[in-house]
Amino acid sequence: MTKTGLAFQQCIMPGCGATYDVGEVRTSCDKCGALLDIAYDWDRLAPPDSLKWFESKWSRRNEPLCRSGVWRFRELLPFAPAEKIVTIGEGQTPLHPSVGVAKYIGLEQDKLFLQYEGMNPSGSFKDNGMTAAFSHAHMIGAKRAACASTGNTSASLALYCCMSKLMQAVIFIGSGKISYGKLSQALDYGALTMQIAGDFDDAMQRVREISQKLGIYLVNSVNPFRLEGQKTIMLRVLESLDWEVPDWIVVPGGNLGNSSSFGKAFSELKELGLIDRVPRLAIINAAGADTLFELHENRGLRWNGGNPDRKIVDSYHAELDAAGQRADTIASAIEINRPVNLDKCLRALEQCHGVVREATDQQILDAKSQVGASGLGCEPASAASVAGAKMLREEGVIEPGERVVCILTGHQLKDPTATVAYHTSDQAEFNRVLGSRGVNTAAYANRAVQVENDLDAIVRAIQLNS
Ligand code: F0G
Repeated sequence: MTKTGLAFQQCIMPGCGATYDVGEVRTSCDKCGALLDIAYDWDRLAPPDSLKWFESKWSRRNEPLCRSGVWRFRELLPFAPAEKIVTIGEGQTPLHPSVGVAKYIGLEQDKLFLQYEGMNPSGSFKDNGMTAAFSHAHMIGAKRAACASTGNTSASLALYCCMSKLMQAVIFIGSGKISYGKLSQALDYGALTMQIAGDFDDAMQRVREISQKLGIYLVNSVNPFRLEGQKTIMLRVLESLDWEVPDWIVVPGGNLGNSSSFGKAFSELKELGLIDRVPRLAIINAAGADTLFELHENRGLRWNGGNPDRKIVDSYHAELDAAGQRADTIASAIEINRPVNLDKCLRALEQCHGVVREATDQQILDAKSQVGASGLGCEPASAASVAGAKMLREEGVIEPGERVVCILTGHQLKDPTATVAYHTSDQAEFNRVLGSRGVNTAAYANRAVQVENDLDAIVRAIQLNS
């Protein structure tokens, strides 16, 4: 099969390079089984020659495709005809400087920025990718769309289906730790919700089989169109920094879609001459779900020009299986041991001179409390970025004067159980709610004051605690 248009699908392995039409539905290469990119014939598409050009869209915010924080950059992801694009106003997300979090990380006070993706319509960064995959699904006439999810992808898919009425959402969740905030979204939006006995890795495997068998459109990030939408998170970061490239992008790593899309965004911008350097990328795993960290930092797995050493990956997975080891972290969104975008992520790490770290549940929850105390708030997985930045600063990998952007991937209200347990419970109560994980809540907890229902006692308690 060969490409037919200005946008096409292409095998990510340089040694293969097979191409497919964008009208095809596929998540891997027929010839070699590798992942696919969406690629473009930039010479004939002639994208803008300066990022500043995109500012012209700001005065046309009454047009949905200019208002969307994804589609106002449409010229850099030009695979869909305008009439097929499904937008619900995603990507209206700000980049906030944070003096408090800069101090916590150990950076100069004006050097830390939080990209607040929790402000998306479904409360997480997933909407950036969902609008792109959903538009592709609409292009090819899909009537049902499916995903496996730790909760945010499913909330996002359910919302696009519910608002557009174009498709039915079929979602697969594990029987473990999906937070109520996320589950409630899928149920409210009317998704067909399949809770299977198993964890996310099991659900992911099943949904691939089911979507193949029943011809249901798959929107997990193994779908290359998803990642096109997620590139725009980086475009908005640049836009907020007046098109200056920061020194570091720090992002949590789960299924590794975000990090992969960021690498693609920056290498395309560089190739198009729209930026003159790429930032460094830091990907932060949770310590209880640290496949990328283990493979990249401890076992030396590299992209290697499109020849990653498969033996390293296979033997690691065999070890996990032999030990019956399952992912386990309080950051349930990234509780994933078999990330589907591993190869693309290795490429991104090479393109952006990247590093990988792992953060413990303790580090994640402490960092989360500091994000909350700075006024934004995020769910536990998102705070892995801040925990990782702190670690890299302490190691001296990040310098105090470097400009660092941490991606807050999901809203604080996605998982209030973790927040409330951290702040108001005593240790025994925390262990009861979230399991005994050796997390000590003493450092930054803002405990609720217990007081009897008596006016004088309440006054005394306020005075005592002010
Ligand atoms: N942060 C949040 C809040 C997430 O929901 C996810 C992934 C990630 C980070 C990791 O991003 O997969 O691109 O590396 N959530 C998926 C889901 C798996 O099903 O909602 P990634």
